[in-house]
Amino acid sequence: MSDHEEFEQQNLKSIQAMASDSHMAELTRDWFNYSFKHRYSYHFKWMGMPIIQYPQDIIAMQELIWEIKPEYIIETGVARGGSLVFYASMLKLLGGDRKVIGIDIDIRQHNRERIEDHPMYDFIDLVEGSSIDQSTFEKVNSIVKNSAGPVMVALDSNHTHEHVLRELELYSNFVTPGSFLVVFDTHCEFLPEDLLSDRPWGVNDNPYTAVKEFLAQDERFERVPFEDKFQITAAPHGFLKRL
Ligand SMILES: C[S@@+](CC[C@H](N)C(=O)[O-])C[C@H]1O[C@@H](n2cnc3c(N)ncnc32)[C@H](O)[C@@H]1O
Repeated sequence: MSDHEEFEQQNLKSIQAMASDSHMAELTRDWFNYSFKHRYSYHFKWMGMPIIQYPQDIIAMQELIWEIKPEYIIETGVARGGSLVFYASMLKLLGGDRKVIGIDIDIRQHNRERIEDHPMYDFIDLVEGSSIDQSTFEKVNSIVKNSAGPVMVALDSNHTHEHVLRELELYSNFVTPGSFLVVFDTHCEFLPEDLLSDRPWGVNDNPYTAVKEFLAQDERFERVPFEDKFQITAAPHGFLKRL
């Protein structure tokens, strides 16, 4: 066995041990829920642009992008552009013709200007509209339909069950075999209810419940338990692999 294989095997064992450690799970949940009160995920930047993610999820996406080497990444929910620029920077590092398509119902003028002025903009297409509108879907389809390479999808827009389920039904069709569909904010199911009282989504009505319903009806995808190793993630049960 090579040194690298031995290292990977050791990691697999320690990850399995960590995943079945109930004290670790309790500490992680307590820390995650407490950090949510402080708007922790809003505090970071990627290449100068605010990225609304837990840093562990940025690493998780980096691992997936390197493994899959997508020609296109489709992201619903652009906000201030940080995740879009992060994906674009990874695509630039991979080389060749690749693009991230960012969809948002409301791309505010100042955000659009900062994205368009960014050095990564050559790797970005912006589509304004609701992600579940047929016209938005058609616009994305017209960009992606002739792609030869892998396509990845990240859902991070409106987090109600109904909205995410519709996004899953639409955008899952773009995900190529072996690639990933990542659904953010599935963690809402595990938060104390009062922390989401100001949002249209909550416990029993969120991306986690949508993923559950989607997986029950769509056999093309299986869940990969990335949270076993990352522990801290806004997407527990949200990393779906197209078989
Ligand atoms: C959580 S933020 C996205 C964060 C971003 N992905 C990041 O990591 O920095 C959610 C975004 O979804 C957008 N949004 C809400 N409803 C939407 C819809 N129906 N279609 C598309 N985007 C929507 C909001 O305008 C907001 O910018």
